[in-house]
Amino acid sequence: MEPSILSIPNHVAIIVDGNGRWAKERGLSRSLGHKAGSENLEEIARYAISKGVKVLSLYVFSTENFKRSKEEVDYLMDLFVNKFKSIGSKFNKENIKVVFSGRRENLSIDVLNTIDSITEKTKNNTKGIINFCLNYGGHFEIIDAVKKVSEDYKNGVVDLNNLDEECFSKYLYQDLPPIDLLIRTSGEYRISNFMLWQMSYAEFYFTKTYFPDFKESAFDEAILEYNRRNRRFGGIKDETKNN
Ligand code: FPP
Repeated sequence: MEPSILSIPNHVAIIVDGNGRWAKERGLSRSLGHKAGSENLEEIARYAISKGVKVLSLYVFSTENFKRSKEEVDYLMDLFVNKFKSIGSKFNKENIKVVFSGRRENLSIDVLNTIDSITEKTKNNTKGIINFCLNYGGHFEIIDAVKKVSEDYKNGVVDLNNLDEECFSKYLYQDLPPIDLLIRTSGEYRISNFMLWQMSYAEFYFTKTYFPDFKESAFDEAILEYNRRNRRFGGIKDETKNN
């Protein structure tokens, strides 16, 4: 039996994948695949927040993605600047907060100025949070947090005896709740160094659909599947759920 009242995950994370293959299947350039992906990303982000998702994390560029051709990286960086500018203004009007996670090094001044301006403009918005993971790596996030803890330790701000999960979380790029549902598009079954700390108890949902085709109905299907899962967090099985 399907659950009658849907529980909406608080924090959903999406590994955006398959733009290139989507384009190839249509005889289009990879750039056009990314463009289609970026258009869909705006729709899905807005839809997720409208459904009651409080935080949506989107893996749009990993630290490893810098290994792609210069042409593709340049195209993506230009797309980010343009899209962040337009999305930033629209999301601001819709009371959505936009934050960014990742290393600043290797990003151009243009990208940095754009993301800083959107962060500042939307910082008091309350309807939901879109967390763009850009130049992001999960190992680096943990290493960077450890470096900040160590700085605070040297300055006497943190007592290592009292360092627990809640306290450590505050040193990550963003202080966000744990991920409830991780979605990866395009039929790959990996987490690719994405939000390793935050993902400890996430439900995983993998779909073969390429990201530009991952529309509202596909998102609804992921939420439905999430509702079929029985989350135990290491405890005992809830017999009232069918799975
Ligand atoms: C993965 O597909 C996608 C990326 C590395 C880039 C994701 C970027 C966007 C969706 C555009 C970003 C837009 C905004 C608004 C931030 P792939 O290239 O790895 O696809 P493939 O595996 O099929 O080649």
